[in-house]
Amino acid sequence: MKPIQVGLLGIGTVGSGTFAVLQRNQQEIARRAGRGIEIAMVADLNVERARAIVGDKAQVVSDARAVIANPDIDVVVELIGGYGIAKALVLEAIAAGKHVVTANKALLAVHGTEIFQAAHEKGVVVAFEAAVAGGIPIIKALREGLTANQIQWVAGIINGTTNFILSEMRDKGLDFDVVLKEAQRLGYAEADPTFDIEGVDAAHKATLLSAIAFGIPVQFDKAYVEGITKLTSTDIKYAEQLGYRIKLLGITKRTDKGVELRVHPSLVPARRLIANVEGAMNAVVVNSDAVGTTLYYGKGAGSEPTASAVIADLVDIARQIDADPAHRVPPLAFQSNTLAEAGNELPVLPMAEVVTSYYLRIRVADEAGVLAQITSLIAGANISIDAVLQREADEVGGEGSNQTDLIILTHDTREGDMNAALAQIQGLPSVLAPITRIRKEELN
Ligand code: HSE
Repeated sequence: MKPIQVGLLGIGTVGSGTFAVLQRNQQEIARRAGRGIEIAMVADLNVERARAIVGDKAQVVSDARAVIANPDIDVVVELIGGYGIAKALVLEAIAAGKHVVTANKALLAVHGTEIFQAAHEKGVVVAFEAAVAGGIPIIKALREGLTANQIQWVAGIINGTTNFILSEMRDKGLDFDVVLKEAQRLGYAEADPTFDIEGVDAAHKATLLSAIAFGIPVQFDKAYVEGITKLTSTDIKYAEQLGYRIKLLGITKRTDKGVELRVHPSLVPARRLIANVEGAMNAVVVNSDAVGTTLYYGKGAGSEPTASAVIADLVDIARQIDADPAHRVPPLAFQSNTLAEAGNELPVLPMAEVVTSYYLRIRVADEAGVLAQITSLIAGANISIDAVLQREADEVGGEGSNQTDLIILTHDTREGDMNAALAQIQGLPSVLAPITRIRKEELN
């Protein structure tokens, strides 16, 4: 059978990995796919670098539209990233009847509804295993392996940069800014790390996971996003003393009222496997009704790990390229005509409606009655306290200090109620600094 012809848009880290792995494993891949998979054309603004990578094995052009216009190309692999030109090129490729493989989580999380609709109308595939957790086949697992289940929640470490930074902060007791600079020096963090450290990249991925887990439209605009820039090594240390690790989690959860979709630092019990995922590694936990809890772990970024996911999508397309589109696995796991109604029945909840437990660190004057004042405001808001820890004043502020940290762990509480209680506590004269609030996820 004729090999399928692939055009790459962009041959940077992931593109060069895709080329290398396809070359290296071509015979096994062809045996699995039932036909060969050939990169016939590569478009990159840096034509010389692209030629150095592909040699004479593929045609290299600087104009991505030349790939889309080539009638011999069956599949366009978009590895440019971002919402700008990448969006135009993906929509043009679909309009030209090409199947599309992309690693672009930002594009799909924000414009997915439009892109999947265009692909549906044209009868082509838009595949995106590489967009979430790099080489971990989490899309395949949720969409196919767990298809019997009602999924309850998904929680993941889905950004390697921030997990590397948090691991270093914990290991070395260093502050965020110091570790970020070191991560940039080592190439773990990008020169502009904003999307990673502010939680946006994780929120793009969590948005895609929520759509696939619950069969709702992608709704990045409704995600709650909080990064790790305000975390201190002090809180990491206190969390450790209480038996928790702090991780940046992407969480999506089904509740009676709707779907939670949120990214923020979270205390996770240190005995959970996911709490022990260190460095730049990724991991996703899925809780579903039939199988229970399953865990997926691996490299969430990098050249060949991400190429592994891109090529898995290419193999899927090669196998089904002649199939009736109605017989293909739907891109968001559920038949596309059911998404809008499910989205109405399961709206993404505002953060004030999210129910979770909390770690609070309150810097206070070390005086009689302060703890009682604070706990009575918490009780007045109907919030139940799980544990209270008071640090020695000397340990917190140095010898002779009259300030101390109160650490309070709460039971599950509506975020809106917690916000109201915190506003009152912050107003107390004996509270000396902005209160630190970190959500706590037991993941059981
Ligand atoms: N920047 C991402 C991370 C990898 O740090 O995990 C690509 O999604």
